[in-house]
Amino acid sequence: MAVGEDEHILAAARRAGLVLPSLCEQGWALACAVRVLEGEWDNGDARRYYREDEGAGFALICTAKPRSDLRLRTHQTAAMRRSRDAHGLPAPRGT
Ligand code: FES
Repeated sequence: MAVGEDEHILAAARRAGLVLPSLCEQGWALACAVRVLEGEWDNGDARRYYREDEGAGFALICTAKPRSDLRLRTHQTAAMRRSRDAHGLPAPRGT
């Protein structure tokens, strides 16, 4: 799947016909969380994204842009919540 340099990954996925979880589309609810298996990304457009999220390899694809080729594991909301809990960070539960 091709993603433009300034395109959010979720938007590109939709364009490609993929149906993936999402909710707020602003980078705070964790509904679109993925684990990055390979590659670099920029989650600077997210409303709430922490250095610890990046360190644990989680991205919020509604607001993430690629900075290299990426390999992602989707449907990681629960895992990202656990990581946030482990770091004492906010982990929305409404999704
Ligand atoms: S859809 Fe809410 S964090 Fe991505």
